[in-house]
Amino acid sequence: MSQDTTRIAAEAVARQMAYCDRMLALNEGRAVPPRALVDTYGCQQNEADSERLRGYLRAMGYDMTEREDEADVIVINTCAIREHAEDRVFGNIGALVHTKRRNPAQIICLCGCMAQEEHVAERIRGSFRHVDLVFGPHALWKFPELLWRVVSRRGRVFETTDEPGSIAEGIPLLRKEGVKAWVSIMYGCNNFCTYCIVPHVRGRERSRAPEIILDEVRALVGQGYRDITFLGQNVNSYGKDLGLAVDFADLLRMANEIPGEFLLRFMTSHPKDASQKLFETMASCEKAAPHFHLPVQAGNDRVLRAMNRSYTRQGYLDKVTALRAVIPDVVITSDVIVGFPGETAEEFEDTMTLIKQVRYDALFTFLYSPRKGTPAAEMEDPMPREEKMTHFQRLVDTQNEISAEKHQAYVGQTVRCLIDGKGEDARNNLTARTPGNRLVHLSGDAALIGTLQEIQITSASTWALFGEIR
Ligand code: SAH
Ligand code: SF4
Ligand code: F3S
Repeated sequence: MSQDTTRIAAEAVARQMAYCDRMLALNEGRAVPPRALVDTYGCQQNEADSERLRGYLRAMGYDMTEREDEADVIVINTCAIREHAEDRVFGNIGALVHTKRRNPAQIICLCGCMAQEEHVAERIRGSFRHVDLVFGPHALWKFPELLWRVVSRRGRVFETTDEPGSIAEGIPLLRKEGVKAWVSIMYGCNNFCTYCIVPHVRGRERSRAPEIILDEVRALVGQGYRDITFLGQNVNSYGKDLGLAVDFADLLRMANEIPGEFLLRFMTSHPKDASQKLFETMASCEKAAPHFHLPVQAGNDRVLRAMNRSYTRQGYLDKVTALRAVIPDVVITSDVIVGFPGETAEEFEDTMTLIKQVRYDALFTFLYSPRKGTPAAEMEDPMPREEKMTHFQRLVDTQNEISAEKHQAYVGQTVRCLIDGKGEDARNNLTARTPGNRLVHLSGDAALIGTLQEIQITSASTWALFGEIR
């Protein structure tokens, strides 16, 4: 892939900043500072994109709000991964008719992965006429210009052209306050798993330049961030498009050399590209968190083939063994899809035996959801929903037992954890994360948020650990 076609020129991004200035000039003339709400669905990629949207909005003079009724601009950043996610979005946009009726000057924007789907854009065009602006992930970097068009022409704007995708550097970011930060290292996906919409809406894999990523990490560490997660749909193929002989393991090692006390995490890894080199790099880099999210999806070879996952059950198990050989206490988590079209009851049992064999620390389980335009959506799917649900429940129950046992093993240990936020109840007013990313509830002074503490684990449940600061 030629780098020139994927990189947005600095001047083009500068033009977007000029649109921010125009919006700012408009907004500065107002008696009350305008407010914007960015509502995010889906994965961490979308969270990271929302930080860019907020960065742009702040540059245009907007204060952020969580309330729809007081927002001058509402941006809904959507996810298309499962039907349920899409239904929720349609429900919520439908409800905005009322807020807009009370405040006709309100601007409603829909972006993210759903917006890139043609049938969704059409439905918004026809049936959700209160939505002013629709743009897909490819057009996110042009948000200021698109918003300016809506404001200056008072007409609806749709920018959802399909393309392989690009990289724009220099977009301002407004990050969530705290000690954790996302850093996108690449965008898009080339894997085309047959059930998945992501490659259709996010374009082809493209990597950010290593020096830009490392500068960003350095700056974040300087600002006090202690837990930095590298993001990509398949971080293991980082760098393949750059022609620089820098792969993901090299990037991790370079980031590890940045001075300061912080942890490096990454999401997500495709098993086919999870290499021995990466495992060994993680083991030798003290800042690389001992956590590996390695989605398996299914335990049966025929199903894995039909999913186009490019590995076998045994190949996957061998990777897990190799990973544990170099990092014995590594926390391994995974994703599983139940009820892929044509998956038989016997084939599902292979998923059950696999999860018992691997003994994941935690598992994200999903009921298959057909996505328009993907090959799996055209496959025969004879199994009744009730039977899939029975499988789903068995899988969840078995995994819960395993997770509870794994968590129980922490009791009595002292673990160095990052206190990362406020808890939900008065007795456990703080939360922390182990290096392996397990959640710990504890009590203590809120001033400790952002610090690393030795925490004695006193009890455990299926979902979390409970501890005391030593
Ligand atoms: N890039 C990541 C996954 C992104 S989507 C990876 O490949 O690991 C997160 C998870 O959603 C997937 O791992 C898969 O388990 C699930 N998923 C994706 N498409 C789905 C669909 N059509 N139905 C149900 N679950 C799906
Ligand atoms: Fe989807 Fe597969 Fe790409 Fe993950 S690797 S985003 S599951 S196509
Ligand atoms: Fe959803 Fe798009 Fe992420 S479909 S899971 S928000 S890449």
